[in-house]
Amino acid sequence: MAYDTIFARSFSKHEQRRFGCWAFAGFLIIALTIFIVFKPFRSYSEPILNLQLSMGASLNILLRTNETIGTQQSSFEVKELKPICNTKQPRSDVCDIDGDIRVKGNLSTIFFATSPNELLLDGNNINQSWNIKPYARKFDDYVMGKIRTMAIRGAQVSAEGLPDCNRNYSVPAIVFSTGGYVGNTFHDFTDLLIPLYLTSIQFNGEVQFLVTNKLPYWTNKYREVVQKLSNYEIIDIDHENEVLCFPRIIVGLESHKEFSIDTSKSSYSMEDFREFLRTTYSLKRESVINLRNITTNGKRPHLLVISRSKTRKLLNAGELASMAERLGFDVVIKETGYNLPVVSQMMNSVDVLVGVHGAGLTNMVFLPKHAVIIQIIPMGKMQGIARTDFEVPAKDMNLHYLQYKISPNESSLLQQYSYDDQIFNETGPLYKKGWVAFRSVFLDKQDVKLDISRFRKVLLQALQLLQR
Ligand SMILES: *[C@@H]1O[C@H](CO)[C@@H](O)[C@H](O)[C@H]1NC(C)=O
Ligand SMILES: *[C@@H]1O[C@H](CO)[C@@H](O)[C@H](O)[C@H]1NC(C)=O
Ligand SMILES: *[C@@H]1O[C@H](CO)[C@@H](O)[C@H](O)[C@H]1NC(C)=O
Ligand SMILES: *[C@@H]1O[C@H](CO)[C@@H](O)[C@H](O)[C@H]1NC(C)=O
Ligand SMILES: *[C@@H]1O[C@H](CO)[C@@H](O)[C@H](O)[C@H]1NC(C)=O
Ligand SMILES: *[C@@H]1O[C@H](CO)[C@@H](O)[C@H](O)[C@H]1NC(C)=O
Ligand SMILES: *[C@@H]1O[C@H](CO)[C@@H](O)[C@H](O)[C@H]1NC(C)=O
Repeated sequence: MAYDTIFARSFSKHEQRRFGCWAFAGFLIIALTIFIVFKPFRSYSEPILNLQLSMGASLNILLRTNETIGTQQSSFEVKELKPICNTKQPRSDVCDIDGDIRVKGNLSTIFFATSPNELLLDGNNINQSWNIKPYARKFDDYVMGKIRTMAIRGAQVSAEGLPDCNRNYSVPAIVFSTGGYVGNTFHDFTDLLIPLYLTSIQFNGEVQFLVTNKLPYWTNKYREVVQKLSNYEIIDIDHENEVLCFPRIIVGLESHKEFSIDTSKSSYSMEDFREFLRTTYSLKRESVINLRNITTNGKRPHLLVISRSKTRKLLNAGELASMAERLGFDVVIKETGYNLPVVSQMMNSVDVLVGVHGAGLTNMVFLPKHAVIIQIIPMGKMQGIARTDFEVPAKDMNLHYLQYKISPNESSLLQQYSYDDQIFNETGPLYKKGWVAFRSVFLDKQDVKLDISRFRKVLLQALQLLQR
């Protein structure tokens, strides 16, 4: 069991399977090794791989090499193969290095001391150096181009090249970038806050954050979160001229899926993350109103309509509000702001959240338990991103999810294009022109005017969900 969880923490299913095979091979070889120990012979020329599974916190693979057998006969001098960097995950590369770590921030270089007998493993490759971009959106070449590369270099203590320490730290460090798409609330969470939580919560605040591409916006906006995760002031390593030394460093952030956590890869869940935010922002309301509860008589469920002011505007939000009030809701129409202590309190008072597909829906993380989200999906082949970005995450957060796909007559695009225009043809040529063409029409030029009587049915469903 322990073996399983250790693996599950740091490796994907695929890799687990691969290591499983290695382990099986290892046990065969251990048996073979025992045979050899009792019947030593000198001229054995094949490398003997002795896989020993440690039940401790990390996986150590011990390698017996040719030379040790050749020169020292049957003695068991071992070289250690440590998995240092996991570069096989789809969303982020993460290196986790123990020992003597020396960070030269202004050169974006991280040195770690190796001993002559040590070999390091990257997947199945032996490697001593890595170049890592510590931002969790590896598959997006455009954004990764904006992220500073951290060079990680192994060097022997005695050799030159390992710089002297100017400042010694006793806590581990975590290196991450606040560049990329940071500034967009959705990306703030999916690329940064959730990965940062996943990577750092284990240290209970006793961890030093080292930030590259530092953006004052981000550290200000998420001050409360950062202070909850780390007891120390963030260090801007791009402008750090001294050599900082740590007993352990993690470069890059763990990330599994869009705006969520894969509980098969972590012992934390989105429920834990939401609980963490609730504590961080002192959110009082644990659960939504229960309309079955007689004693709540007189109280009305709160409906928040997220209004967007630039793109994908809800043109008849006022009509929507009157209809919802007739159904018994208290309605607020608001654009979510930048002041998170205020936004999070507002979200925490909400029972039903309505919004057109967009970053504002990210604020669902602050909703109380059992809240209902209604995502309005504009025209365009948007079901896929609507599902990945918000539907799946909402369900992972144990929130109720409803969606409302608009019909062409609810889209402002119908004022510019006729109903039989190729832009409405989901198998048509526009969809083959890629994201930028798609975005400029469907995400940037489209507003929504709801068919109120059709939308009413979705609100009735939401009311039903509040009767628990
Ligand atoms: C082990 O020795 C064999 C034969 O001398 C050689 O081909 C092989 O590359 C060596 N392997 C290692 C890991 O040094
Ligand atoms: C070692 O890492 C470097 C830098 O990431 C990479 O260019 C190189 O191909 C790697 N070597 C092996 C054998 O994996
Ligand atoms: C940091 O620690 C190393 C090893 O213990 C020591 O040699 C060095 O003098 C220390 N440097 C500072 C600035 O404290
Ligand atoms: C980095 O800091 C060192 C030590 O202060 C300094 O000598 C060097 O010029 C700096 N390099 C850059 C690129 O700023
Ligand atoms: C019913 O509502 C009252 C007042 O809001 C609350 O104190 C009580 O815990 C609720 N009971 C249930 C079963 O939800
Ligand atoms: C809009 O289109 C839908 C389905 O295509 C239709 O049921 C509805 O009556 C139309 N509404 C208006 C106001 O034309
Ligand atoms: C949609 O576009 C495809 C490919 O261009 C075309 O074959 C198909 O006839 C179009 N459908 C409509 C309804 O225009």
